Parts: sequence; C-alpha cells; structure tokens
Amino acid sequence: METPSIELIKRQFFQMVPIRLFNWGIGDSKELSSFYAKPEVQDEFYEKIINDAIFTKFPCSPNYTLNFFKAYIKILESQQENEISENILEYYLQLMMETKRVSGPPTEACFKTYYLDENCNSWITIKEDQRLISQGTTGLRTWEASLNIAEYFKSHPETIQNKSVLELGSGVGFLGLYCSHAGAKQVIMTDYSEHVLTGLENNIRLNCQQCPNASSSRLSWEDLEESEVANHQFDLVIGTDVTYDAAIIPVLVRVFKHFLVRGSEVILAATIRNQQTFDQLGISTDEEGIKVENLPLCQEGQFFYREEIAQVVILKLSLEASQ
Ligand SMILES: C[S@@+](CC[C@H](N)C(=O)[O-])C[C@H]1O[C@@H](n2cnc3c(N)ncnc32)[C@H](O)[C@@H]1O
Repeated sequence: METPSIELIKRQFFQMVPIRLFNWGIGDSKELSSFYAKPEVQDEFYEKIINDAIFTKFPCSPNYTLNFFKAYIKILESQQENEISENILEYYLQLMMETKRVSGPPTEACFKTYYLDENCNSWITIKEDQRLISQGTTGLRTWEASLNIAEYFKSHPETIQNKSVLELGSGVGFLGLYCSHAGAKQVIMTDYSEHVLTGLENNIRLNCQQCPNASSSRLSWEDLEESEVANHQFDLVIGTDVTYDAAIIPVLVRVFKHFLVRGSEVILAATIRNQQTFDQLGISTDEEGIKVENLPLCQEGQFFYREEIAQVVILKLSLEASQ
C-alpha cells in the first residue's frame, strides 16, 4: 500500500488496472475522500491526468475511462468539505455523453501507458487488445508474467544493463521495450505471427525515442534455423508466458538450449495455469540437460499485476555441468 498521490492514481489509470483492484492509497475512505477533494489536489488531478499530453494522444479505452471517472467522482461526492471542481465536472459530463456503452467485455484495441518510475517521468506506451485471445492469438496484449519480470529487472538492473537481449514470443512488446529503456545494449524482439509482428513493429515505432535500440525479427521456435537471429550471440534470452502449451514446450526448450550452448543466460517468467503443462517444462528441461532455478519474485511496485489471478514464477535456465 502506498500513501495517496496523483502519481499513484496516474500509474494505475494509464495501465488500466481494473477499478475493483484499484489502490487509492493508505487511509480509510473518509481520509481518502478528504485528500482527493482538496482543491489543490483536484487541480493537480486535472492537470496531470485529464490534461496530460499522453492521455490526449494515446487514450485508454473509453469504457474503462468512464468507469474510472465514475469511481473517482463517487469518492469526491462522499465528502462535504469541498465542491467538485468545474473543470473535472465538465470533463466528466462530456465523457458520459460521448462514451458509447457496450455490454460484455470490451473488444476494441486501446493504448496502455506503463510508467517506469514513481514520478511518471518515463514511460512506454503500448497499443494492445483488451481480450485474452483475439484474432486467434494470445499475442495482442501484455500478460501479467511480463509485468512481473519487468519488476524483477527493475530491482536487479544489472541483469539487463549493457546486455544484448533476445526476446522469444514478444507479443505487443512491453518487456523488450522495457529492457531497451532500462539500459540493454540491444534488444531484438521476436514472434512468429505476422499479425502480432505488425502490432509489435508499431509499438516499437511508437516508443523509438525512449527505446532507440529495440527492433523486431520473425522467429518461429519450430524453424529456428531459418531465423536470422539463430547465429547471433546474445548475452541474455528472455521469454514471458511462452510455456502455456505443453505440445510446444519441447521445441521451445530446444531453442533455449541452442542459445545456452552459445553462452547466453536464459530467464523466463511462466504463468502456472495448469500444473501438467508446467510439469512438461520440467520434463523437457531434464531431457535436454538444463537446470532450472527459481529466482525471487518481486512484490508489485512500479507495475500492477494481479497475483491472485495468475501464479507466476521467474526461472533461470542453465546447462547442467555435464553438458
Ligand atoms: C501469451 S503470449 C505472451 C506475449 C508476451 N510475451 C507477454 O508476456 O505479454 C505468447 C506469445 O508467444 C508467441 N508464440 C507462440 N508460439 C510460438 C512459436 N511457435 N514461435 C514463436 N512465437 C510463438 C505468440 O504469438 C504470442 O505472442
């Protein structure tokens, strides 16, 4: 839990943290509503959130925005000390008029901005889908495992700084872009779906100023030798939420081994949704003579991920001594 601040709200809102999981800060509801209703805090909220240049250019989903503002206005209404500022009320009324209500889960793609420091001075903006699976792929949104491992890298920056990094199954690209921003020497993000690669390339362009040394390349785990990155040397190979299909794990583990043999370090984050699928990772790594070590998990801090929904482990792979 953190003390209430507009930055805490901003980081969650721009990352589209579900309203039911929103952390408004430490304090009982009376203390929190008194804090957010202070005229100077309302002004700060207006300037730093509604009037923010990123929000204007790369908005979150309209329905999410409406739900967020409903929750915020409810907090302001639950106290009697201060009136709601005219700017905020005007914005809220306009939002209500303009937002088309949709029933069921939202389907449109939208922007999420992931702030990379507590004061919201640096960020990565990703265009992503809100559905778990869309257009037949899971690669069009950012998954919890990648936020989890970004938190790990944030507290262990030496893992990525000045390293050449290859990412497998990058999806929309949050993690690779994070590595680039956090000081990796070079980051190549890969995927096999043309559709995913198009979205990935757009996100790389969107963040090219903050992440100048990030690029993408096609890499299908089944056809590693056809990929232009197969013979490159990387200091670090990463992958998040790429171990969800037991049938493909043996192939993926052979890709890990290919790079381990060439001297890369391999770190992945796996989401355990099904124990049998996860066990397959242990079986395949044993068969290939690969040792698996658990790295410590970091508590949610900069990024927001729902531990109660997805159990994530961060694993470091290395060759057994006999290999
Ligand atoms: C669950 S998504 C994870 C995306 C991203 N790493 C994240 O954590 O947000 C899995 C990704 O792996 C990619 N993928 C699946 N099978 C693959 C294969 N055989 N070769 C290359 N990429 C693959 C998918 O296209 C998708 O982008």
